[in-house]
Amino acid sequence: MSTPVRQTDSVAAPEQGAAPRRVLVTGGAGFIGSHLTDLLLARGDEVTVVDNLSTGRRENLPARHPRLRFIEADLSHALDAMGKGETFDQIYHLAAAVGVRLVVERPIESIDTNVEQTSALLKFAVTHGPAGRPAATLIASSSEVYGKPDKSPFSEDDDVVYGPTTKARWSYAASKAIDEYLALAYHAQRGLPAVVARFFNTVGPRQVGSYGMVLPNFVASALKGEDLIVHGDGRQSRCFCDVRDVVAVLPRLLGAPETHGRVFNVGSDTVIAIADLAGAVISTLSSRSRVRLVPYDAVFGAGFEDLRQRQPDLRRIRAAVGFEPRISLERTIQDLATGMGWTPDQPRGDARVHTIAAKTKATPSPASGGRAGASGSGEGGA
Ligand SMILES: NC(=O)c1ccc[n+]([C@@H]2O[C@H](COP(=O)([O-])OP(=O)(O)OC[C@H]3O[C@@H](n4cnc5c(N)ncnc54)[C@H](O)[C@@H]3O)[C@@H](O)[C@H]2O)c1
Repeated sequence: MSTPVRQTDSVAAPEQGAAPRRVLVTGGAGFIGSHLTDLLLARGDEVTVVDNLSTGRRENLPARHPRLRFIEADLSHALDAMGKGETFDQIYHLAAAVGVRLVVERPIESIDTNVEQTSALLKFAVTHGPAGRPAATLIASSSEVYGKPDKSPFSEDDDVVYGPTTKARWSYAASKAIDEYLALAYHAQRGLPAVVARFFNTVGPRQVGSYGMVLPNFVASALKGEDLIVHGDGRQSRCFCDVRDVVAVLPRLLGAPETHGRVFNVGSDTVIAIADLAGAVISTLSSRSRVRLVPYDAVFGAGFEDLRQRQPDLRRIRAAVGFEPRISLERTIQDLATGMGWTPDQPRGDARVHTIAAKTKATPSPASGGRAGASGSGEGGA
């Protein structure tokens, strides 16, 4: 049985006798937001979570905690209801319509959510910091913002390349790009201490597969002994980072003033092909399942565009806050499966459990200035 990992050691607690930090987490009942909330509570903060539970779950958060306040509401409504005296030392904005599949299925609501809620949040943040000053604010963005460039790995200042507006798939990327423009504009024009975190594929316990997230779907299928459905030829590749590694770095990013007004890739740069990921799930969980390849068109309709490679260049975040993911993919798979009722002594088949070695690490490519490798999208696709 694997033990839950807590990485509170890397986050500074308030000084002895100091008032607890007041922190707002939007989307805090979601997958990433709930792990961040756990971390902030563990370091002694007073946390207000606003979430409309559209994709999040109340049970992701502690049922009761003396320093947790949960507000179930649309973010913009909750912000309107908060009085002038309601101030926060830090704000983490994670509420969003997440993933390519959700946006393809419900484009109007998704674009509205991602743009309008972020606009409302940034306006609020300017006057709701300590003593009415701006509050330090982290905006969750996505590697989807890069679109479909030819080069890999992706660096924060790279050009972005999208498909036509007739393909709803690109509206998620565009909506997140608008969020970034807004955050950077509020920093430049209103002095908001804002930082943009571009998350690459984030995985781990509490992630659900309902909107097409690849790893929870693989794990659920493996536990049932069903086929693991891999889109295309399965050679498209991604980098997966455990959510507990991701949330551990966010307070450090927001707490370092030199990061304000800047964009940071956040994720792992270890590359794995989706078919290999499926194989890793099967072997880690000793499942009888098999991998089945299904054409993209059959899942997303004609003309769906996916990326072959997606890998972050992590030099900027390493230089700023020394980020290094620590949790292995094998551990992540086990913990995700444990959350679905799996125990290691109840294998689902006869495959041997093996340790997953890191697949490829930053294969140099001339196009990327000596750092590169292969990765891909996967926020909602496999
Ligand atoms: N999971 C990933 O791999 C990944 C990758 C890139 C970017 N991100 C970004 O990270 C953030 C968190 O994503 P997640 O994976 O935890 O997804 P999630 O769906 O679990 O979390 C989003 C949360 O926002 C809430 N929400 C949505 N609209 C809201 C609104 N109008 N008002 C209040 N709450 C609202 C949802 O109920 C949910 O709890 C998002 O901004 C997402 O775009 C995630």
